[in-house]
Amino acid sequence: MPDDVPGGFLTLGDLESAARARLADDVWAYVQGGAAEETTLRDNRAAFHRRTLRPRVLAGVDRVDLRRPILGRPASAPVFLAPTAYQGLVDPEAELATARAAQEGGVPAVFSTLSTRPLEEIAAASGPGDRWFQLYLQPDFERSVELVSRAEVAGYRALVLTVDMPLLANRDRQIRGGVAVDTPVPVGNGSDVVSPARAPVLEGGVYRWRAEAGATWEVLDRLRSHTDLPIVVKGILTGDDARRAAEHGASAVVVSNHGGRQLDGAPAALDALPEVVAAVGPRLEVYLDGGVRRGSDIAMALALGATAVGVGRPVLWALAAGGRAGVARLISLLKLDLATVLALAGRPSIAAIDGSLLGAARG
Ligand code: FNR
Ligand code: LAC
Repeated sequence: MPDDVPGGFLTLGDLESAARARLADDVWAYVQGGAAEETTLRDNRAAFHRRTLRPRVLAGVDRVDLRRPILGRPASAPVFLAPTAYQGLVDPEAELATARAAQEGGVPAVFSTLSTRPLEEIAAASGPGDRWFQLYLQPDFERSVELVSRAEVAGYRALVLTVDMPLLANRDRQIRGGVAVDTPVPVGNGSDVVSPARAPVLEGGVYRWRAEAGATWEVLDRLRSHTDLPIVVKGILTGDDARRAAEHGASAVVVSNHGGRQLDGAPAALDALPEVVAAVGPRLEVYLDGGVRRGSDIAMALALGATAVGVGRPVLWALAAGGRAGVARLISLLKLDLATVLALAGRPSIAAIDGSLLGAARG
């Protein structure tokens, strides 16, 4: 049966338009917004447009195999669903719909500390599917440990520690939009679970944020002593920090600027990738998220040394557009597009992707 595109959604952009039509303005500002002037947010996408692919022809491409292991487990494609907080703002089934669709699609899904559903319910909805637990450090370290222990018991396969959000950036669009910043949104993992703080207190000329913003690399060692799960450090943009993650026992890093939502002025994720791969690949797996919307984006990231890529906002668009079926569509669209791109580029498998797939940058 031909794997044709069902349902009228031809691209992730179509899911985005459908979501825009359904969501209230304040929720839309939360989903789409970035930090400050959104320079990094825009650059995440522009970086893909600056690169070119160098095709091979007559390469025997009647079959294309997208399968590739991620963190030692089989996956149907080099793709994962990145964590996004408060999925209940865009769909009533929220993270449960995401978990079911990811399991059906054969790709890992990462669930936020700030999920609207409890992590145990999400695990049950995942069934045999790979789910990873994303941790935001809590002001009291014991609370972090409790969350990690719950995730381990519930069969999460990895701990994703997000390190680019010791505190919440100034998100002009979101603050003006007014949702989910100062209005608490219910968190399924417990009423005492907190999201990274925005406003500091000024004490004698010094700005002070909450305790967890004081964390250093030693926190990885402390977490390591409390869990057997592989640790993935999310939010790395330099070779130096990637090396530190490796020294402190990480199994993988995610090259990410949090979808342009934290440090505006940070490089595009794709531009930061080569430095990180040079520093820790192939010792650590290196993943990337930020601006991935097309099969050609995935191909470029893999050609630069990424093992897999994540999508963030597209999951929320897909949920808003069609719940579980929308997320299933998102996954199948990305896979079909990647398979088509790899065939056209003369690379019939993920293993056939290497640096020779990249051409000169556009002038
Ligand atoms: C995020 N992201 C995120 N990351 C994380 O580690 N924990 C979280 O709870 C959230 N929450 C969140 C909410 C929303 C609305 C967005 C848009 C993003 C960041 C996310 O995992 C990922 O790094 C980026 O979204 C990737 O960029 P794209 O795919 O959105 O361009
Ligand atoms: C965000 C947080 C919650 O980016 O990760 O909104």
